[in-house]
Amino acid sequence: MRVPYNYLPFQFADPEPFIAEWRELITSTEFTLGPYVDAFEKKFAGFVGARHVLGTNTGTDALILALKALGIGPGDEVITVAATFFATAGAIVAVGATPVFVEVEERYQMDPAAVRSAITPRTRALLPVHWAGASPDMPRLMEIARNHGLRVIEDACMGPGGSVAGRHPGTFGDIGCFSMHPLKPLHVMGDGGMVCTDDEQLWSWMGKYRNHGMVDRNRIEFWGVNMRLQPLQAIVASRVLDTVHHSVAERNRLATRLDDQLRSLAPKIVVPPRPAGYRETFSLYMICGESRDSLLRFLVERGIDAKVHYPLPLHLQPAAASLGYRIGSLPLTEWQAARLLTLPMHPFLGEAQIDYMADSIRAFYQREP
Ligand SMILES: Cc1ncc(COP(=O)(O)O)c(C=O)c1O
Repeated sequence: MRVPYNYLPFQFADPEPFIAEWRELITSTEFTLGPYVDAFEKKFAGFVGARHVLGTNTGTDALILALKALGIGPGDEVITVAATFFATAGAIVAVGATPVFVEVEERYQMDPAAVRSAITPRTRALLPVHWAGASPDMPRLMEIARNHGLRVIEDACMGPGGSVAGRHPGTFGDIGCFSMHPLKPLHVMGDGGMVCTDDEQLWSWMGKYRNHGMVDRNRIEFWGVNMRLQPLQAIVASRVLDTVHHSVAERNRLATRLDDQLRSLAPKIVVPPRPAGYRETFSLYMICGESRDSLLRFLVERGIDAKVHYPLPLHLQPAAASLGYRIGSLPLTEWQAARLLTLPMHPFLGEAQIDYMADSIRAFYQREP
């Protein structure tokens, strides 16, 4: 049996509806910002429950735009996690600030207890990540930020369709950032991203900065760059957004089925807790497994596209060498990184494929007691 990781061939099996809308766009020649991008921004704002949304070129751009908008730069520290994609810390470094990595908890999310002890006089902001499409304890993180006068930028790149404490990921902090990379719950046919905010001034500044600082065709208020979302992609995003609730519901149904079977393999397999009040998107379905690398090879040989996100956490990457971390700096993050395994999880899988993954993992540990 094959269990594919990549759902895109199924998602875009029928390209005709996209092509039909692209024809209209081509006729209109509205190729930079304009009505297609505006319409998508309004639609996504309604989806997440934010006052304003701006489309960007990528999720990385969204993070850089948010950090810039909050005036974060050289000399500032931004607290984040090492268990995330490179772009989270890359964006902090891109604006000249310093990432400070803190420990995660057993759900692979930023640990609020670790945040408190990492705050210094140079700390300007928290950058929690809704990693894997699960969420950190945002109400507690917001309370810490408020008590210490810190800004909050959420990396909700994997968050569309999730919720925490009744709110959408990305709507707790000053600015929420999203990616529409093809392997995110809301995706386009290439790159795309968004920021959301309830703050009029931040919205106005970011709207100008992503478009060269322009106030009209002939004047710029300040120096900006081009981070614009492509209208071609706004059309794709808008159609895919209509499927996100269904696809997240399906992922939850299938993930629960897999969780139930894998929990019986404890302690060799550790399934993270799924507390009430969190709706995960299962952008990545991750567990921890003993002898992970052999298990990964075994599953791949059986046609299961398992992966690892990621074997080397950010604080131990060569790029972080000057920041002074070493092995043992973040023990739980490192423990998880040595065991994490990502299994295929998307709405185009059937129950038979889910059961096949569970049976295969069971067979592996029976073979290697
Ligand atoms: C947690 C996280 N942050 C940031 C990004 C960067 O997004 P993009 O690839 O759209 O630049 C990604 C995904 O790629 C991500 O998973």
